[in-house]
Parts: sequence; structure tokens; C-alpha cells
Amino acid sequence: MGVLGVGIIGTGSIVNTYVKCVEELEDTKLIALYTTSAQRVKEAEKLFGVPILDNLEEFLSHPEIDLVCICNKSGLHGDAAISAAQAGKHVLCEKPLEVTTEKVDTVIAACQKNDIVLGCVLQNRCSEVYGAVENVVEKGALGKLLLGNAHINWYRSKEYYAKNPWRGTKEFDGGAAFMNQGIHTIDLLLHLMGDVKSVYGNMKTLVHAIECEDVGTGILNFNNGAIGTITAGTALFPGYPERLEIYGDKGSILMEGGNIKEWNVPGVPAPANTSLKGNASGAADPTNIGHLNHKIVLEDMIGAIQENRPPMVDGFEARKAVEVITALYRSSDEERLIFL
Ligand SMILES: NC(=O)c1ccc[n+]([C@@H]2O[C@H](COP(=O)([O-])OP(=O)(O)OC[C@H]3O[C@@H](n4cnc5c(N)ncnc54)[C@H](O)[C@@H]3O)[C@@H](O)[C@H]2O)c1
Repeated sequence: MGVLGVGIIGTGSIVNTYVKCVEELEDTKLIALYTTSAQRVKEAEKLFGVPILDNLEEFLSHPEIDLVCICNKSGLHGDAAISAAQAGKHVLCEKPLEVTTEKVDTVIAACQKNDIVLGCVLQNRCSEVYGAVENVVEKGALGKLLLGNAHINWYRSKEYYAKNPWRGTKEFDGGAAFMNQGIHTIDLLLHLMGDVKSVYGNMKTLVHAIECEDVGTGILNFNNGAIGTITAGTALFPGYPERLEIYGDKGSILMEGGNIKEWNVPGVPAPANTSLKGNASGAADPTNIGHLNHKIVLEDMIGAIQENRPPMVDGFEARKAVEVITALYRSSDEERLIFL
């Protein structure tokens, strides 16, 4: 395969990130965008300089599009991914892959049936600093894992929700602070600590005029015997950099805003902190998320398509955080421990 043709579904805030990545990568070319909004068609054509289509069939039958990047509302990811897979296009989908495990499963099945490479964008896995953490945890340098905590105590303004009313809804956002903002750090927590046996969740909507949680807590029991906690919010003014803490019986690591805050790993020096060099924290401002990790995700996806291998985060990997978050929501609704 020569240059990979890229089409994008959705023309909202995250799309600029993709356009920048495609421009910077030598082996990709932006072919067209698709949006349901007639108003956005006119605006976007001026911005992106490629055709903006509002006819999905026409978009998906474009012969130069090899890969469809899905950047619309989260609760519409599945329909878009399935249509793309049926049209024979590879799929790179924004997080969350879908808002329920049932919908995630239909996406995975459609991609398998049509022999499509399916990737999900959980770009915080790509940072060098996180890679160093993953490496030592995987090698058992922290010893037996005991406790893992993820804190995403962020803030979003009233305007953030008022501007795009799909945010914070069950149907289109799948939830709020956990499913939209928290999912990145929750994904890293699960990736380091392993599979989850049971969860207890407590979700509240205390400040924002939204359907789902703007403050929440979760307790996790992992299959390996370790325990964990999650706190997440979008009402926690002014919003603090997200934290990830991993404790073992031989050492511990604390990350903050993607950087190492504490590194106590026997015999292994701490990696240099690099996260502010292009990927700042979205603690208070959703537009503050840089594009460099997205670029690595896209490069990996191109490799996966060329080599016919799974990408860094395939459908099964992407499903894990959705499963835990939706179980936490169910636990909160039913006021009981939920076994996965
Ligand atoms: N990875 C990250 O760090 C990151 C950051 C921001 C957003 N996101 C994800 O990107 C997605 C979009 O978020 P956003 O902030 O750009 O939202 P947004 O509200 O700015 O944009 C959503 C877009 O979807 C389009 N859309 C609506 N219905 C559609 C349909 N039926 N078909 C096609 N397009 C449709 C809208 O026209 C709009 O262009 C969400 O799933 C979100 O979770 C990820």
C-alpha cells in the first residue's frame, strides 16, 4: 500500500487534531470528511480544503478512502464504525469505542466479519513516560501489585456542556466524568493492574445541568487480589492534573498530568518527564490536549493495516474500560457490588 487515504466522520473539536496528524505524516492523505450538519459542510470546506460530504453512502464509497477515523458523538461511534466496516474501510475510532459493551461487541463483530483493522484512540498509552511505567510494571519490578488509584478531578465550565448538549447524556456521551474525561486514566489503570473482578460505584450530579455524573467514586477489586480506587469529576474547580498511582510490595510510582511525580522502583532510574512537550493535561481546558500522541496512534494504525496485525489498542482492549465504567454506573444505580 502506498499513501493511505483518510476520511473523517464528524467535524467537531477533535477533528483539527486529526487533520494536523494527517498533514504531518508522509504516508497519509486527507480525502474527505463527513458531517450531518449542513452548516458545518460550508464552514469545514474552507477550513480543511477537502470535500465535506453530508451523504454517508457517498462518503463511504469514495474509492480513495482506506481508513475512516470516527470523531462524532460517542453514542454514534458504533453505527459509523459498522457502516465503515461494511464498506470495506479500516476503522480508527475515538474513545470510547462505544458507550455500552453490547454496542462495542457489535463493532468488533462487524470488523471481524469484514476483515477490517479496528483501532481505538486511547492516546495516553503512547507517551514515553507511560511507556517506562508500563515496562517496569510488566517486568514485575514493583513486586506484587497491591493498590492502583486513578484520580481525574477535572473541571468543565457550564459553557462546555451548553455548547454541545450531547455531552453528559447517557445516550450520546455514555455518561459524563468517567466515560468522557476519566476513560484515558482508567484505561491506563486497567492496563497496569490487570482484569477487574468486581466494582462498587457512587455517581452524583451535583453542579452541572447534565443527566450523568459530574462527581463520582469507584472501588475496584482486581483478579490478581489487588484493590483500586477511582475518583473523577468535571465540577472540581479549577481542575487538577490527573493522577495515577501504582503500589506494589517492592515499589511504587505516582504520575501526575502524565509525568512522574514519585518513582520508587528498586534499581531502575526514573525516566525524564516529557509530557508537557506537546501533550498537556486537559484538567481545565478540553482544547489543551496536544496532537503528538494521536500522531503515534495513527502511525501505529498505518503499521497495523500494512502488516495485517492488531493495532496498539484493538477492540478487545478498548472494551475493557467501557466494561468497568458501565459496571460502575450500574453499581451506583443499583447500590450494590457488581461482578464483571
Ligand atoms: N482522545 C481524546 O483526547 C478526545 C478529545 C476530545 C474528544 N474526543 C472524542 O471525540 C468525539 C467527538 O468529540 P468532540 O469534542 O469533537 O465533539 P463535538 O461536539 O465538538 O463534535 C461532534 C461532531 O459530531 C458530528 N456529528 C453529530 N452527529 C453525527 C452523525 N450522526 N454522523 C456524523 N457526525 C455527526 C457533529 O456535527 C460534530 O461535528 C467524542 O467521542 C469524544 O469522546 C476524544
